[in-house]
Amino acid sequence: MTTMIRGGTVVNADRAFRADVLCFGDKVVAVGENLDAPANATIIDAGGQYVMPGGIDTHTHMQLPFMGTVTMDDFYTGTAAGLAGGTTTIMDFVIPDPKQSLLDAFHTWRGWAKKSASDYTFHVAVTWWDPSVHEEMGVLVREHGVNSFKHFMAYKNAIMADDETLVKSFRRALELGAIPTVHAENGELVYQLQQELLRKGIRGAEAHPLSRPPEVEAEAANRAIAIANVLGTPVYIVHVSCAESLEAITRARAKGQRVYGEALAGHLVIDDSVYRHPDPDFARGHVMSPPFRSSHHQQALWQGLQGGNLHTTATDHCTFCAEQKAAGKDDFTKIPNGCGGVEERMAVVWDAGVNTGLLTPSEFVRVTSTNAAQIFNIYPRKGIVAVGADADLVVWDPSGSRTISAKTQFSKGGFNVFEGRTVRGIPTHTVAAGKLVFERGELRAEAGAGRYVERPAFTATVA
Ligand code: URP
Ligand code: ZN
Ligand code: ZN
Ligand code: ZN
Repeated sequence: MTTMIRGGTVVNADRAFRADVLCFGDKVVAVGENLDAPANATIIDAGGQYVMPGGIDTHTHMQLPFMGTVTMDDFYTGTAAGLAGGTTTIMDFVIPDPKQSLLDAFHTWRGWAKKSASDYTFHVAVTWWDPSVHEEMGVLVREHGVNSFKHFMAYKNAIMADDETLVKSFRRALELGAIPTVHAENGELVYQLQQELLRKGIRGAEAHPLSRPPEVEAEAANRAIAIANVLGTPVYIVHVSCAESLEAITRARAKGQRVYGEALAGHLVIDDSVYRHPDPDFARGHVMSPPFRSSHHQQALWQGLQGGNLHTTATDHCTFCAEQKAAGKDDFTKIPNGCGGVEERMAVVWDAGVNTGLLTPSEFVRVTSTNAAQIFNIYPRKGIVAVGADADLVVWDPSGSRTISAKTQFSKGGFNVFEGRTVRGIPTHTVAAGKLVFERGELRAEAGAGRYVERPAFTATVA
């Protein structure tokens, strides 16, 4: 399969330049001006458009069993939706139950993910601790291409990692050359605040943000950073949603600590008024953790991305339909936590970031693709348009626009947190592993075409 993307402006994290891009099989084989196209090549006209590395969403949950139900998007529908939005790789999560073998869970998720339409890879959550977890982390790193381990500091009585687990797992990750990541919220505080709100009779979605104020997130971010500092490990903080967590990251980085932060497209543009909406389905549809916050926090997150203290943009794509969300209609603590976005992330970040002048096109590439590839050690296979890289590309029309709606989305769940938002800057073509899988609204995603991406360990200090 040969594909030529002709006449566009290639945008990488370091520079933008006029070039044709030739793909053969699943790789980019030439990048340069006035390339000759082989006779059998599929030609994509990128005149007036940008050609960028396909997006990497560092945080998704397809087919996740969570809070008594399973997300609407499975690995096929979710990755297909991602391709429609210019995202060609997702980083999903294996989440073992407490006491479950990490390897068993990993193989279960690998089975579910076989139908993926785009490339995918897994962070593995450490939800409990004993010597078998120590052992299996080693097997995952050495034999299965896992180089990141996730720790939920929230979700008490479910998947929350206590401090013992955090310390032992961070230490083990360091030995193995893997990076620990955290969902930073103090799960005990969340639990106590939830009980207090329920006791007062505040039971609707409006209670959700009240049970998870910024200080609750910041406490956990500071704790994770402090643990990482003592042990000498890097740490990656997922879905940073508030100024206080960003301050913790910024402070640590200023002292030379290797701390990374991820911002979600939703947290960048949606505010907490959604929880006070008169339609309870609408309010519940926005319940995710950490919650959406005020514009003060959104502004801080943009500054974090601009200033280099936040590194990646993701979605935490985790879709539930209205019926699933209604499980919590009389008790907000039972609303399945999660919202979508894998299909919209790139356009939302472009529209709110590049069109406003907050980010340059190269900075956009950096925070939607390149930094993710570098932090999680799959660069330059991914995250750059260059000879030898995977032919994962998005052709981007900066003047094209669309209005986002659940009615026209590919993702399942019937709800869209970006509903009604008109974005300027949209993908016209997505090429994944050398195949044209999305063309001007037409999706040609193929179940099973996505590949599991192994991520090698960083230099390990012990075998
Ligand atoms: O509300 C969320 N974010 N649901 C998915 C699980 C998680 O915390 O990432
Ligand atoms: Zn989380
Ligand atoms: Zn998540
Ligand atoms: Zn349903």
